[in-house]
Amino acid sequence: MVMSKYTDIIDLADMGSDWWLKVVKLASDIYDDPQKYSKACDGKIMATLFYEPSTRTQMSFQTAMLRLGGTIIGFDNPATSSVAKGENLKDTTKIVSSYADIMVMRHPNDGAAKAAAITADCPIINAGDGGHLHPSQTLTDMLTLYREKGRLTDLTIGLCGDLKNGRTVHSMCKALCGFKGIKFVFISTPELGMPKYIKDILMASSCEFTENPSLEDAIKDLDMLYMTRVQKERFASEEEYNSLKDAYCLDRAKLNKGRQDLIVLHPLPRVDEIPMDVDDDPRAMYFKQAKYGVFVRMALILTVMNDREHSVPLFTGKTYNGVECRNPNCITRKEHYLPRYFRGTADLLECEYCDDRVLC
Ligand code: NCD
Repeated sequence: MVMSKYTDIIDLADMGSDWWLKVVKLASDIYDDPQKYSKACDGKIMATLFYEPSTRTQMSFQTAMLRLGGTIIGFDNPATSSVAKGENLKDTTKIVSSYADIMVMRHPNDGAAKAAAITADCPIINAGDGGHLHPSQTLTDMLTLYREKGRLTDLTIGLCGDLKNGRTVHSMCKALCGFKGIKFVFISTPELGMPKYIKDILMASSCEFTENPSLEDAIKDLDMLYMTRVQKERFASEEEYNSLKDAYCLDRAKLNKGRQDLIVLHPLPRVDEIPMDVDDDPRAMYFKQAKYGVFVRMALILTVMNDREHSVPLFTGKTYNGVECRNPNCITRKEHYLPRYFRGTADLLECEYCDDRVLC
């Protein structure tokens, strides 16, 4: 077993539901009285390394640190850093983590945050790794449910759009499946369907899920509808993206089939899946959700900085001679020096960076 040196937030599953609830409740407390926390990170530095575009995640992390009294360094365009000179992920993150007290990273490859955590010299928070996970978004979604529905249990949640490539919905399923009475409805086309490994996790935790390709039909039973963008950057061809990009649109007519106490979330950015005239409906919660993101990230930064003892398992399995992850987007396919760790049995192995399966 290889443990992390710090309280790294790579996958919420590493932390457990008591820990998530503690962060969500702290975030809610900060929302009600932010002044109380305005000096909590006095003298601390947070580095944000964004190898992929971002508005909300990056700026909400930065705002969070500034509102806690700390300062920020980092890049939002790797082309203006030494990455453009060919520097590998290990060297960049090793150096930056020796400058900062906490490091937040977004990267286009699945498993990149875990790869960085192997050698980083400060705690790292995964701000999105390829199509894999997005833990701080899930905590934001939990805070939104906690404040707007008053509970994180007994909810029927519809996930609509690109469930195949959307890291936000993968993270959400992995976290909320542990709560009592959560039922998921997957609303997508077969091409955009939820990966099998996520469905397996839901089945293993006895979390109910159904699939319904019709948004119009599925919306009637939902407590929360989570709309997502078709992830253009994760498609092999523009043609394939174009054939799927308009698969779902929550217009007013469809929303009107939903209950009055429904809430509509979206991690944003939206493209055409929610027309702007839906924004005025009181059930449209996505702008407030984005605002909650700052308070969740304040709570996350504080918890990680004060919880120096809580290391997480990075690798529980082992390396196998000649076995490679077959996911072309896995970080091990790009950063070749990384040790290839797999968990599972000899005929079905799972890559410990990206959770993809290798059948031997
Ligand atoms: C999401 C992301 O980056 O995964 N956005 C966000 O962080 N709020 C969703 C998306 O890009 O579609």
